[in-house]
Amino acid sequence: MTSFDSFFSRDAASFRPSAIRAFAKLINDPNIISFAGGVPNPDTFPAERIAQVAEQVIRERRAIALQYGPTRGLPRLCESIATLSRTRGIDCTANDVIVTTGSQQALDLIAHTLLDPGDVVAVELPTYIGGSASFFARSAELAGVQQDDDGIVPESLREVASRRRIKLLYTIPNFQNPSGRLMTQERRAAVLQLAEEFDFLVIEDDPYGELVYVDGADTTSMQSRDTSGRVLYLGSFSKVLAPGLRCGWVIAAKPLLGKIEIAKQAADLCSGMLDQSIVDELVANGELGPQVERVRAFYRGKRGILIEELERHFTGKAEWTPADGGLFTFVTMHDGVDTATRINDAVASGVAYIPGGPFFVDGSGANTMRLTFAKEGDERIREGVARLARVFAQ
Ligand SMILES: Cc1ncc(COP(=O)(O)O)c(C=O)c1O
Repeated sequence: MTSFDSFFSRDAASFRPSAIRAFAKLINDPNIISFAGGVPNPDTFPAERIAQVAEQVIRERRAIALQYGPTRGLPRLCESIATLSRTRGIDCTANDVIVTTGSQQALDLIAHTLLDPGDVVAVELPTYIGGSASFFARSAELAGVQQDDDGIVPESLREVASRRRIKLLYTIPNFQNPSGRLMTQERRAAVLQLAEEFDFLVIEDDPYGELVYVDGADTTSMQSRDTSGRVLYLGSFSKVLAPGLRCGWVIAAKPLLGKIEIAKQAADLCSGMLDQSIVDELVANGELGPQVERVRAFYRGKRGILIEELERHFTGKAEWTPADGGLFTFVTMHDGVDTATRINDAVASGVAYIPGGPFFVDGSGANTMRLTFAKEGDERIREGVARLARVFAQ
């Protein structure tokens, strides 16, 4: 057999490999100062506690931790997630929650449940590649919506929704990946109003809302304003505990949640019970709050240094987002340089970043790049920005 083409599904023809995976290999070479990563720093993982709790739940609760579990998730964990979500303004109970294998699975399940080939999903320019991959994998069409410093530009969303029927809007209002932006509450309200007017649903993906480094950032969820059940809210423990514990969740209106549950039965029966048991125990013990504080403290200083160094080296040459939370700042070069064409020079100079183009579904964004402050120590961040400045001075 030379080709398997006749075996692939129509959806498989729409699969998009991640355009930024290729850069991932750059992040493990110690000679390269990497702003290219997209992952949390392992130093933030509460590894000792996870090891203790893992041992405890395996030894003491094998009939739960090592057994199949309910598709909707470990009941006590669903309770804890509902409690946590109420602090984010969401009016919910455990019955409104499904635990998923990371929030990525929630994206895939929602796409499976809601999208037919050719359906239009509006996404932010730029957007998270794992989100767009889930929609492409269902042969959806993606329409880009402009953002500014306040988040989605309502006029742009109106224009997209007026041109063609959109079924779904995918948004990351809190410290978006990749842009690092926080959408204002006014914009959130305007977006929801447009959802009513044009009758589309909204996925609110919120893995970064707890990672706040400044006072006064209003991360109150969009779902808290939603009176008609249009918003599907996604949360995750990946950025505050550890992404290897594949534990996320979705909160949505009951008819939507019921279908998503059935999609999940077919996908994996239940999310990993050992992962859920560990997360459940840590959260029930009240360990999440202090852990979130530690993670914030860990990133706050690094973020400050990266922004300070950008000011030193790039003022007048570029703009960047303030990264008041999350893991990223997003840089837009003034002179229109295509950042993808400089990546080889950058790597040869010992620094790496992610060119921004792949995050834009409309093919724009060539003069942008995503930088994370998560990986490197303070001195290497300083040196890395200096190297970056030399690369872009050429
Ligand atoms: C915006 C966004 N959504 C979802 C995910 C997936 O997270 P997880 O599946 O680990 O919860 C990520 C991971 O980086 C992300 O940045």
